[in-house]
Amino acid sequence: MCGIVGYIGHRKATPILIDGLKRLEYRGYDSAGIALIEDEGLIHEKTAGKVDALVAHLADRTFTSHVGIAHTRWATHGEPSDLNAHPQVDNSGNIAVVHNGIIENYRALRQILEQQGYKILSDTDTEIIAHLIGFHYEDDLTEAVRASMSLVVGTYAIAVIDKRSPDVIVAARNGAPLLIACGENENFVASDAAAILSYTNKVTYLEDREIATVSINNFQISTIEKVKVDRQATELDWTLGAIEKAGHDYFMHKEIHEQPETLHNAMRGRLNFEEATVRLNGLTDHLDDLSRIKRVIITACGTSWHAALIGEYLLEEYAGLPVEVEYASEFRYRSPIIDDGTLVLVISQSGETADTLAAMREARRKGAKALGIVNSVGSTIARESDGGVYIHAGPEIGVASTKAFTSQIMVLSLITILLGRMRNISANMGSEMIAALESVPEKIQSILDREDEIKKIAELYYQSNNFLYLGRGVNFPVALEGALKLKEISYIHAEGYPAAEMKHGPIALIDEKMPVVVIATKDSIYDKVMSNISQVRARKGRVIAIATEGDTEIAQHVNHVFYIPAIKQCFTPLLSVIPLQLMAYHMAVLRDCNVDQPRNLAKSVTVE
Ligand code: M6R
Repeated sequence: MCGIVGYIGHRKATPILIDGLKRLEYRGYDSAGIALIEDEGLIHEKTAGKVDALVAHLADRTFTSHVGIAHTRWATHGEPSDLNAHPQVDNSGNIAVVHNGIIENYRALRQILEQQGYKILSDTDTEIIAHLIGFHYEDDLTEAVRASMSLVVGTYAIAVIDKRSPDVIVAARNGAPLLIACGENENFVASDAAAILSYTNKVTYLEDREIATVSINNFQISTIEKVKVDRQATELDWTLGAIEKAGHDYFMHKEIHEQPETLHNAMRGRLNFEEATVRLNGLTDHLDDLSRIKRVIITACGTSWHAALIGEYLLEEYAGLPVEVEYASEFRYRSPIIDDGTLVLVISQSGETADTLAAMREARRKGAKALGIVNSVGSTIARESDGGVYIHAGPEIGVASTKAFTSQIMVLSLITILLGRMRNISANMGSEMIAALESVPEKIQSILDREDEIKKIAELYYQSNNFLYLGRGVNFPVALEGALKLKEISYIHAEGYPAAEMKHGPIALIDEKMPVVVIATKDSIYDKVMSNISQVRARKGRVIAIATEGDTEIAQHVNHVFYIPAIKQCFTPLLSVIPLQLMAYHMAVLRDCNVDQPRNLAKSVTVE
């Protein structure tokens, strides 16, 4: 949510800051701005709209500064406008601040500042930080930031420059991600590694309540209470190619097509054929505890929550464990019953989602062991969890999650095999499951090779106003995910339902204008799903079925069929979701929507 980039070094800052903003634009894109320390003093320029609007706004200007900060925004306080865009500047015009997060006590602080005579011009909580720093500044920017942030309640990642301290950027974090990246005679501050990967892969993550003073060749970290912190840098193994479109029109399209490879990566080195189980390094220290757990709670948001629902089916069926799946936003405010035998699994692509992080902290506070299933290496959830498994999907830039979803299911499948082999399942079953998982990348490739078939269906239906998605058993969460993908990127209203629930309400919506996507793969509940299809057809609904190759019967009962390869029933979601991702993508393109940056959304939701 929002992107921060800061640069101090031997090169001119502006092109680096703009490049960084473009790479961060997937995190927030309603306004953008930049602040630099030029010879004539601090300058700041900002505009409502995307980074390109800022570039156009700066087109006639020449800047020579080697130090600056920049921001791309997802509005929380105040509408997207030039005035509310960041950087925000204090009344003296010396200090500029960019900020991700929400200052909860901003009204009280605003009142105090106004009583002191400060003129507050914007609707943002960020402007308050600029004035607070101005108020506390004597001759040391770091100390002014320290004094200011000790008064602030809320979440923040900030970067600050001051024309009186042109040799430093000061950064601080509490509850929103921020890192320092080191190059040769240059250092960076960023909310996300994508901003700096073209220049260096050496990063140091700030922890909550820490402040960093960053100069050209150096940086120092201390806590807000002034305790010095020594932290090793991490070397990221993400390549630049991973954050570029590589010939695809949109990142989402690229990421859908990467799935054979990302799923391969999620399994790499983890399958133990001899013992018909899996080896997950992040769980090695927890094997004793895992063999004793009696119950699992999985918590997540959005698409990750859908993956959690699939995990529930897998773990109950094959590990014989009772599983509860909770929206993180609800879990954090409940009084969950957690005992010695409860394992909490936390799923998050970004590893930074505010609700998921809070739910994990709450679970740990209550004594649970919390294991993360995370994509972003070094993210807060990855660092604060007791252990966990990276999904290794690589950077996901499209706001709509695709490859992370299938990799989350893959990792949940691996965890199921591990826990199942400690309990119920035989070596034969373990081997059968491993073999089935190994076949997934090739089967997904065969679906992607038939993308044109899906595109043709999308061409027929992209003008519909409503869609219903139905599935049963392990494919019910896939129906939810298909509906979420469609609504978030094409703005078509879509609902996912368990197929049999349709007759308890949604059936009232069905007429000849209502396309209904049904996952009707050949499995133990196929006949039941076929009855649900008949109920739709009897009311003239248009049925698009996702069926299993070799099913010669289904075509007579539906309007369109897309076939997917057969696979062990519990792993069908890994295949059945692919045509739904492609269908959402093509409908959004046909409707002229910005697929990667849908309105009102941001990739990583770091506010509550
Ligand atoms: O990074 P996370 O997995 O924690 O994100 C959770 C949701 O915000 C995310 O899945 C969201 O629903 C996506 N836009 C779905 O495509």
